[in-house]
Amino acid sequence: MRKILANDGIHAVGKKLLEEVGFEVVTEKISQENLAAHIGEFDGIMVRSATKIKAKDLVNPGRLKIIGRAGVGLDNIDSEFARTAGIEVFNTPSASSKAVASLVIAMLTGISRKLHHAARTMPLEGANNFANLKKMYAGGFELEGKKLGIIGFGRIGQELARMAVGLGMEIMPYDAFYTPTTLNCEFGKHSFSLPLQQYELDQVFEQADVISFHVPAQKDRALVGLSELNKMKNGVVLINTSRGGIIDEKALIEALDSGKVRAAGLDVFLNEPNPDAHILEHPGVFSTPHIGAETEEAQTRIGIELATRIIDFFEM
Ligand code: MLT
Repeated sequence: MRKILANDGIHAVGKKLLEEVGFEVVTEKISQENLAAHIGEFDGIMVRSATKIKAKDLVNPGRLKIIGRAGVGLDNIDSEFARTAGIEVFNTPSASSKAVASLVIAMLTGISRKLHHAARTMPLEGANNFANLKKMYAGGFELEGKKLGIIGFGRIGQELARMAVGLGMEIMPYDAFYTPTTLNCEFGKHSFSLPLQQYELDQVFEQADVISFHVPAQKDRALVGLSELNKMKNGVVLINTSRGGIIDEKALIEALDSGKVRAAGLDVFLNEPNPDAHILEHPGVFSTPHIGAETEEAQTRIGIELATRIIDFFEM
């Protein structure tokens, strides 16, 4: 019987599809330290971002033929090494776009009304300090008419743009490779195309009220450090749901302290799963534990796509 390891879990629908055609699906997690010793016992492995599959984990690949990445980023897999060892690597690049984009909108709407902060203090102080909290959380802002810089204009960036257009925001797209000139939108039965202006990266940094990042993990240095932060508008809002390290965390804390950055929505961190407590505790940070792709709908799509690709691969 072919064995598939779902080391970071798989939606029940995907597991069922695999089992129905005769795969054994193992969901007990193998720790990072023990992965190299056991990976060769499986015909396929599926991971999210938590499990790293590096060259050292693949030196004895045994019966391993395929690695499925549940999600977009392949930075946790040494794909080149795997392919030279004859192991197929694939990801599910479209399945979670709506989920990630909707988390950005949730962070943005939350930050615009200081909800991330109010939600921390209300349970502790709301009963005795209501009037003061009401003053403290006044002075929100509306999103309509604000400029939203979207850095990385692939599937997730475009999905975010569609949602933000619905909120009346002005879109400032930037992509290092290609920025489309129109955005195709579908709202219920209505579909239309919106023209998109082209921007340079610095123009986005300098003019946007809010900047959301949708780029792969950065190898050498943060995409946003002190010098990039200095180019931005005073009181800019930053959202990172891509990868930890895209915004330099120390520089961000300084910019939050000085008021240069009004607030930051962060779903991803350096050193996950042990992020720096300073960034999490900062009152200007709306933080979530890397849940961008975590909707029932996205996980169902991912589970089905993983299972289908593996079934096709083994022609089962
Ligand atoms: C992705 O790259 O799609 C996400 O980071 C997946 C995850 O949540 O692990």
